[in-house]
Amino acid sequence: MVTGGARLSGAVKVVGAKNSVLKLMAAALLAEGTTTLTNCPEILDVPLMKDVLEGLGCTVTIDRDVVTIYTPEEIKSDADFDAVRQFRASVCVLGPLTSRCGRAVVALPGGDAIGSRPLDMHQSGLEKLGAKTAIKHGAVVATADKLTGAHIALDFPSVGATENILTAAVLADGETILDNAAREPEIVDLCSMLVEMGAKIEGAGTSTIRIIGVDKLHPTTHEVVGDRIVAGTWAYAAAMTGGDITVGGIAPVHLHLPLQKLRLAGADVETYETGFRVRMNGRPVAVDYQTLPFPGFPTDLQPMAIGLASVSDGVSVITENVFESRFRFVDEMQRLGADATVDGHHVVIRGIEELSSTSVWSSDIRAGAGLVLAALCADGVTEVHDVFHIDRGYPQFVEFLNAIGANIERVTA
Ligand code: UD1
Repeated sequence: MVTGGARLSGAVKVVGAKNSVLKLMAAALLAEGTTTLTNCPEILDVPLMKDVLEGLGCTVTIDRDVVTIYTPEEIKSDADFDAVRQFRASVCVLGPLTSRCGRAVVALPGGDAIGSRPLDMHQSGLEKLGAKTAIKHGAVVATADKLTGAHIALDFPSVGATENILTAAVLADGETILDNAAREPEIVDLCSMLVEMGAKIEGAGTSTIRIIGVDKLHPTTHEVVGDRIVAGTWAYAAAMTGGDITVGGIAPVHLHLPLQKLRLAGADVETYETGFRVRMNGRPVAVDYQTLPFPGFPTDLQPMAIGLASVSDGVSVITENVFESRFRFVDEMQRLGADATVDGHHVVIRGIEELSSTSVWSSDIRAGAGLVLAALCADGVTEVHDVFHIDRGYPQFVEFLNAIGANIERVTA
């Protein structure tokens, strides 16, 4: 239950990124021994990934923000069990299992609310490295006697495919060149950890990554990179509520474009070495957005951009280029009174002064958070349902919001 009208003001600190920690946990499969990850977010997907790794033979402990993973010499290659099906990100065990075991069976999750998410680039990348892959009985199966470095060019800079190719190539024979690689900060974080484990990687954060395979990796202790999507959510919350929020725990360069857009919308944005402050006085001005792979505007902040546009002065056009069905969220925004029209992968929004409270339903992590922010801009009390989605990606979301002035009551999980 979200009571609208509050102006958010205060300081928040973000912890490690969901989209990094899960991949780093999977990378621990690459080295026998104990890997320690610090600055981990306390979100539902972390214990889900623990179940996945334990199903493969690891021992995992979660102690607040520290996750410790013991990987035995022999691990199982078969991840065809329920824990894997529960969440999409578990597909990131495919690369490590293929390179460590020469075989991987990874169950495919069911349909996704943000669009179809095929694995063709993951498969073709592994095939270039010498594996055979197929989809069999609802699982992706990869087998390889030996992986050998290759020149791979991705059709699209897919985050997941880049990660699986990286985690397979680090133990392959010889050199792999990966062109049109994803450049997200979470990819750089994964490469940093792999290098700490003894991998040879150059070019992380650029479109071409060079990997020289090594025989063996060793475990490490690694701090997870700050969550730019959570940090961006706070930035947009400040702008939407005419607030003043200082966010710590994040390199502002990871949010360069989203913060630039907020300046165009009229916000006063100051950046520091490990954080930023967003202040908004008066009504925001309409701004256009296009989601693109990093350093473009992140698709995961698209609901927040739509939320801001809905209460801005003027017309915004928001174009989704990464996921096909991500505008399902717009239906819920319309229920809140937003003047939004979807046309293919564009949505045209005519900003109004205030949204109107009602009941809305979250369809994914980011849409859920976006609806809570929108509800803060509505008159009266809005019920946001299916908030378990939010718990998968935002640690203590309600607590943080209430600490900076929101009026939100959690009724059930
Ligand atoms: C990751 C993030 C997600 C984010 C997305 C884009 C995690 C757990 N999730 O998802 O939050 O929104 O990056 O920044 O890190 N595609 C194919 N074939 C493939 C692989 C991808 O067609 O083999 C398509 C997808 O359907 C999608 C686009 O490429 O349309 C981008 O997907 P990708 O970058 O792979 O996203 P994920 O790694 O799934």
